[in-house]
Amino acid sequence: MPDTITITDDRTGKTVTVPIEGGVFPAAAVRELDPSLFIYDPAYMQTAACRSAITYLDGDNGILRYRGYPIEQLAEHSTYLEVAYLLLNGELPDAAQLTKWKQDVTAHTFIHENMRKRFVDGFHYDAHPMGMLVSSLAALGTFYNDAKDIFDKPSRDKQILRLIAKTPTLAAMAYRFSVGLPFNYPDNALSFPANFLNMMWKIGDYEVDPRLERAMDVLFILHADHEQNCGTTAMRVVGSSHADPYSSCAAAASALYGPLHGGANEAVVRMLSEIGSMENVPAFIDDVKSGKGSRLMGFGHRVYKNYDPRAKIIKQTAYEVFEVTGKNPLLDIALALEETALNDPYFVDRKLYPNVDFYSGLIYQALGFPVDMFTVLFAIPRTVGWLAHWQELLGDKDQKISRPRQWYTGVDARDYVPVAAR
Ligand code: SDX
Repeated sequence: MPDTITITDDRTGKTVTVPIEGGVFPAAAVRELDPSLFIYDPAYMQTAACRSAITYLDGDNGILRYRGYPIEQLAEHSTYLEVAYLLLNGELPDAAQLTKWKQDVTAHTFIHENMRKRFVDGFHYDAHPMGMLVSSLAALGTFYNDAKDIFDKPSRDKQILRLIAKTPTLAAMAYRFSVGLPFNYPDNALSFPANFLNMMWKIGDYEVDPRLERAMDVLFILHADHEQNCGTTAMRVVGSSHADPYSSCAAAASALYGPLHGGANEAVVRMLSEIGSMENVPAFIDDVKSGKGSRLMGFGHRVYKNYDPRAKIIKQTAYEVFEVTGKNPLLDIALALEETALNDPYFVDRKLYPNVDFYSGLIYQALGFPVDMFTVLFAIPRTVGWLAHWQELLGDKDQKISRPRQWYTGVDARDYVPVAAR
């Protein structure tokens, strides 16, 4: 059977046959038929917007691989910084490369004092930490005017290092500001996750528990990249105009802020708290199914029509964290929701399974993070995913500035009428 597709325009009888490769065919085929014809695809449900070699998803079988490595193996054996190197460079580092990479990232964890003293202090006392992070990412770019030299590789690599290294510092700074605590400077003798936890929690004598350090590293690995999700698409769209990487990351973080995307981990914990007890689960599920209530947050996915492989690993990690912190009382409600939904035709027929956000919030809450920090915890590791796709975009000869067309459904031409005559 030939790997081609033939499209015929019945209005003209014109036919075009194009190859199918990697599960896609070029939309240029439509241009060949009729340049004024466009494919209507709201939310890009059936569109491959780019070629990418970074992350592979198989939604039907619940498979996720970074540069070919199964997420399960990376979560068990790797670290976030090693995975960050893999996503950016395409290969795992050897020992010397990993040592240098860690040193390079560590060298960039500090932020300019003006960011801490002037910029952050300008926020309202109850500013949402994710709103602060989005703003801080864009503001950070104003300290590095060389960031605009996006085709100068040494400069581009330095901005990538700065963003990976400084995002945890900005995140911890937003939290400390929101609770009125003094800012903790990075302690570069610590690992990437331990440095973040230390900046978050250090008051007096504070030691990072190695079990929690490892749990944070696993969560960072699981959230590092996920193909062409909403936030990464925003990164690519803004990056396609050749904006600097700080502005592009701020756009990506803004998309992640939405409750249908990265904001779902915060929405899940609020949902579980509102449900309040296992006895209330059946009534809540009925409410969701009626379409009148909220969605079952943390369930469903545009790509995964099976169990999100990350959710399985996070659920296991939750038990390991609870051994240290004590069980999050909301876990029983989450387990009851999952059990009910996985056996209810409404969810089964729509292929709605737990996604990455369903259990992650329970861990964050058990670790002491306030709910409004949860999406910030998603943004920290996803920064390297955004940057890996931004870097790939800049090197892709197929890519131009993103500028889709539309299906115009407005009124036809009409003449202006002065207000007196309306
Ligand atoms: C992330 O893209 C990524 O990779 C994202 C992410 C990443 O790593 O970057 O994986 C991170 O964003 C995970 C998703 C977190 N969001 C949530 O958990 C919010 C709740 N989930 C949904 O709103 C929804 O499932 C989406 C947004 C995730 C996906 O939505 P789709 O693919 O656009 O599906 P849809 O809205 O068209 O829903 C299809 C049907 C509808 O029912 P009908 O109108 O056909 O009767 O399923 C229903 C929806 O009403 N549905 C749900 C539901 N999700 C979809 N019903 C109840 N609860 C839900 N959670």
